[in-house]
Amino acid sequence: MESLRFDFNNMFSFSVGDNGVKDEDIAQISGDIQKAHSHMEKVFTQGSSRIRLGLEWANLPYQDDKLINSIQKLGDEIAKKYDNVIFLGIGGSYLGLKAAQDALMPAYFNEFAPLRNKRPRIYFEGNNLDPDTLSVLLKNLNPKKTFTVVISKSGETIETKAAFMVVENWLKKNVGKNYGRAVFVITDPEGGSLRKRVLQAQEKDNLSLRSLFLLKGVGGRYSEFNMGLLHLAIIGVTIKEVLSGAKDMAEKCKKEDLYQNPAYMYAVLHYLLYRFKSKDISVIMPFSQGLKSSADWYVQLLAESLGKKYSRKIEVSNDGIENWLQDKAKVLNTGRTPISTCGTSDLHSVQQNNIEGKNNKVVTFIKVDSFKREVKVLANGDILSGKSYSELMKLAQEATEWALAREGRPSCTVIVPEVSAYHWGALLFFFEMATAFEGELLNVNAFDQPGVESYKNYMYYKLGKPGIPQATAEGIKNKPLIKDSKYIL
Ligand code: PA5
Repeated sequence: MESLRFDFNNMFSFSVGDNGVKDEDIAQISGDIQKAHSHMEKVFTQGSSRIRLGLEWANLPYQDDKLINSIQKLGDEIAKKYDNVIFLGIGGSYLGLKAAQDALMPAYFNEFAPLRNKRPRIYFEGNNLDPDTLSVLLKNLNPKKTFTVVISKSGETIETKAAFMVVENWLKKNVGKNYGRAVFVITDPEGGSLRKRVLQAQEKDNLSLRSLFLLKGVGGRYSEFNMGLLHLAIIGVTIKEVLSGAKDMAEKCKKEDLYQNPAYMYAVLHYLLYRFKSKDISVIMPFSQGLKSSADWYVQLLAESLGKKYSRKIEVSNDGIENWLQDKAKVLNTGRTPISTCGTSDLHSVQQNNIEGKNNKVVTFIKVDSFKREVKVLANGDILSGKSYSELMKLAQEATEWALAREGRPSCTVIVPEVSAYHWGALLFFFEMATAFEGELLNVNAFDQPGVESYKNYMYYKLGKPGIPQATAEGIKNKPLIKDSKYIL
């Protein structure tokens, strides 16, 4: 099987002059690279640290066949019985599923029955508090033909919780008391109100609110190969193929040598350009409509993993177990700002700024070697005559790469032989490992997201949630938003 390739020619000074990296720059941080590698190796191989620090995702490609077969079977059963499946979840409990849906299923999947191959229509909700989408969906779906999968690791996320309460009520009213048999829950094995709901429901009827455990030590945005598996099974993707791609990439990403490890190379080059050439913005541009949602998934991965206020402080216990803390004495406010775009649509949009705006960006292209389908322009004497869409797409990508390089703007290209389950699995793992390694180089905790808490706390405070710490409540009460009408026109 041909593997994913990473082309980083245009990150180097021989392509983009002073805005690029030189071999000496890499040599200069070789000690840091080595240190980062040995540290990652140490925590990955140390079971208890790995789980507590949220690094268990690195083992997901190696999951037990028996478990995978049972999920695959469950997905087939649900697919056979229902016309529609709604997935409720947000952030890491949504973006990986959406990425898989758009990459691995044909466009217009919901619209045309032959494309679905006897699989249900798929809807994603609970990823926003916009009343317009959920209300329209529930008004138009047949509840008796609809299955719901609720995904929330914490079981407490407002968007998912609210959507589940609404959907539950809709099912109760329209399906009757056994509605819980058409609901599946993926959540923490022990904690959270969603787990409590599952236990309550199953006490009365063990087929109600059936559930899969989320693995301990797998954070939301690194969890597609865990919480996304049932979705893959329902839409008919062979999970083992996805995991096999991820596994092959995982093996590659264990190598210490930068020139044999594409994820490390990606991380090192981006780190160097960020730290020393002020390339603060990361534009991700797949030249494939189906991979646009994978770019959105990567945006979350990068933003939540590396966008950090504090440096990481590592405490090691006597028996060598690590604990990662925020070093409040070291404010970094670090992390590249990710922007998700899509070729060729955004060549008529963001690309103008990429080429002529501030030279503070690195563009990551994702290029597909071989498309699953083809469209040909008829031969009629035009320059486009007889050309295939995939030929034009590749040319557009090459042209964009050239245009950026000519202006001294760095870019790199991840080359996907084809958007198959195998290569998509490899693509996701590549970005996960690259992000984790960049976190090591920046010395931040790439597996938490403390910045997301403050908006949640504000909402909880205003909603009157019991148990909010007094300091948090006072911080909100004493520093309200300023809304002077003089400044509102
Ligand atoms: O990466 C993360 O951990 C977050 O983006 C979460 O996935 C997101 O906040 C949703 O959380 P939960 O799955 O607990 O509802």
